[in-house]
Amino acid sequence: MSLSERDLQVIWHPYTQMQTAKPPVAITRGAGAWLYSEDGKEYLDAISSWWTNIHGHAHPYLAEQIYKQASTLEHLIFAGFTHAPAVKLAEMLLPLLPEGQSRVFYSDNGSTAVEVALKMAIQYWSNQGLTRTRFIAMKEAYHGDTFGAMSVSGRSAFTKAFDSLMFEVDYIEAPVPGNELQALAELQVLLNDKSKEIAGFIYEPMLQGTAGMRIMQAGTFSEMINLCKASGILCIADEVMTGFGRTGPMFASEYFQYAPDMVCLSKGLTGGMMALGVTTSSEKIYKAFLSDDRMKTLFHGHSYTANPIACAAGVASLELFEKEKTLEKVSAIATLHAAFIKKVGAHPALSSIRTIGVVLAMEIKTGEGTGYFNNVRDEALNYFLERKVIIRPLGNVLYLLPPYCISEADLHYIYGVIILYLDSRL
Ligand SMILES: Cc1ncc(COP(=O)(O)O)c(C=O)c1O
Repeated sequence: MSLSERDLQVIWHPYTQMQTAKPPVAITRGAGAWLYSEDGKEYLDAISSWWTNIHGHAHPYLAEQIYKQASTLEHLIFAGFTHAPAVKLAEMLLPLLPEGQSRVFYSDNGSTAVEVALKMAIQYWSNQGLTRTRFIAMKEAYHGDTFGAMSVSGRSAFTKAFDSLMFEVDYIEAPVPGNELQALAELQVLLNDKSKEIAGFIYEPMLQGTAGMRIMQAGTFSEMINLCKASGILCIADEVMTGFGRTGPMFASEYFQYAPDMVCLSKGLTGGMMALGVTTSSEKIYKAFLSDDRMKTLFHGHSYTANPIACAAGVASLELFEKEKTLEKVSAIATLHAAFIKKVGAHPALSSIRTIGVVLAMEIKTGEGTGYFNNVRDEALNYFLERKVIIRPLGNVLYLLPPYCISEADLHYIYGVIILYLDSRL
């Protein structure tokens, strides 16, 4: 039996309707932006393997550093003990983050990084004898699949079966172009009515990824952060997707004038090599947990918190950012995307096209309306796969988010497939 056939006997895949899904493509090897399948085909990874990969698949330097760490110290209980990769990664990360971040709390994925931030925010207030348990979040936000992270995400098909079980959240419009005034006005009403009940404001800075690569307006967004901070509300930047150059700068929070109180990281943190989550906090938040009273402890941790191999991958990835001038690669991709938009922007099969950093997003005109279950999704996914390109559209939104090592020629090849696909829709 092939790997794909064996898979169908034993595996339950994420975000997959197992009854109707096609057999999974079995990949045996990766190198750079390419993935190689069991049946001898090759594919260009245009989405960085669920937005995680940074420097390319199976990068030799990352692989070597992981091997070294695995053969030195592979795991360590992280309460009462510490190790060099965790300390080094925190030392390297903090100076790169928006101003004011002073402590690193480790977990093991993006959803848990968000859970930790929510718990920190609520307990920050309760440790001071105050009850502030509500969160402001944006409509259509996505913050993860665990219950807290789901609760602060917009209500959608993903959350429907669990809607009655999630905690209440105060939603406001996202400041996407055209919505800025509405977003500000909704925030203002909330701040007037119940700012003393609100623990935190959680947001995806500049770019709502899962919602369909919605790019937001930096000036309004910055003002929203300012208003929340002025009301004492803790601002939580969920940079799980936007972190590590996806939107151009190292962190999307750099687009704003006002820095967050907490930052959530994962995905690109290890270059896409290992599962790791980070929640950083300002000193003010950290200090609210310091006490002789043990009840003021943050009672949270995971078995794989700060796993040494994952932290070593994080350190190695940040070293590569320096050595390989990775952010220059990001701006080169951004320039190519901008030129492509000039070329194809008026295509009649498109209802809109936009870019930020390495992300290029296109909305395909469709008679069915938009949404995650739009038929364009499967049609486009298969069309591109047959032409050696891996994409994973969000409904009728096709997007590219390639590893930064992708060559100009490979990117042009993908642009060519996009034009073929758009022409096929006429
Ligand atoms: C903004 C954002 N936050 C959190 C998550 C959840 O991360 P994970 O899938 O690692 O749990 C994601 C995942 O796509 C995300 O885009």
